[in-house]
Amino acid sequence: MATAGRTIHRLRTTRPTKSAESAAMGFYARHVLPRLIDLAMGSRPLARERAALIPAVSGRVLEIGAGSGLNLPFYGARVTRLSALDPSLPLWRLARSRAAGVAFPVEFAAGSAEHLPFEAGAFDAVVTTWTLCSIPDPGLALAEVARVLAPGGQLFFVEHGRAPDQRVRAWQDRLTPLWRRVAAGCHLNRPIEELLGWAGFRIASIERDYLPGPRPFTYRVRGVAGIRA
Ligand SMILES: C[S@@+](CC[C@H](N)C(=O)[O-])C[C@H]1O[C@@H](n2cnc3c(N)ncnc32)[C@H](O)[C@@H]1O
Repeated sequence: MATAGRTIHRLRTTRPTKSAESAAMGFYARHVLPRLIDLAMGSRPLARERAALIPAVSGRVLEIGAGSGLNLPFYGARVTRLSALDPSLPLWRLARSRAAGVAFPVEFAAGSAEHLPFEAGAFDAVVTTWTLCSIPDPGLALAEVARVLAPGGQLFFVEHGRAPDQRVRAWQDRLTPLWRRVAAGCHLNRPIEELLGWAGFRIASIERDYLPGPRPFTYRVRGVAGIRA
């Protein structure tokens, strides 16, 4: 528009329509987020945690929140078959080459750990690595894990969660509302050991520590638990 010899350029700022917003979110969830998760979860400190836990797993195994299959290379020869459950098919697609490299059958199930599509007592071991932080109802998921474990079966876990230090906890509480929006529902402040206890698990072994990085994000527990008699 021209006024008194000056040209004024107006910026048109329009809100994207609802369908444009949801298309963008769909693109982000399908194509961007899976690669970001694969990249972030593939770090060397996390690989060391996998190496310390996964080789001890044996028999019929269920992995909840299997993601992009980053645990697959760490399973040993005593695994007879693996059911990998995750709600995200795009994430699991990134696991194809890793699944091709293992010596046992792998089946993928699309679903939520809160409603496991398996018979009671179907597994000798269940594995969860950095997943209880993202499941909307982790208590329900752990009750389901207890249901599908065979008598004497064990839960193998590495999870980040609520730290023992008050100042770190305060930051975890402050950051979680924003963090869960950008990190696919991840909570920094879940009390992992308490959740296991409330679901009827008895911890057989556990390591507690901060991994490298900012403390609100890195407090982790790694261990093995069975069902209380
Ligand atoms: C931080 S990623 C960890 C992935 C993988 N366990 C690993 O160690 O690389 C969290 C995973 O939890 C999965 N997840 C989110 N909600 C879930 C649910 N309700 N049931 C099962 N898995 C879920 C996500 O799709 C994602 O794969």
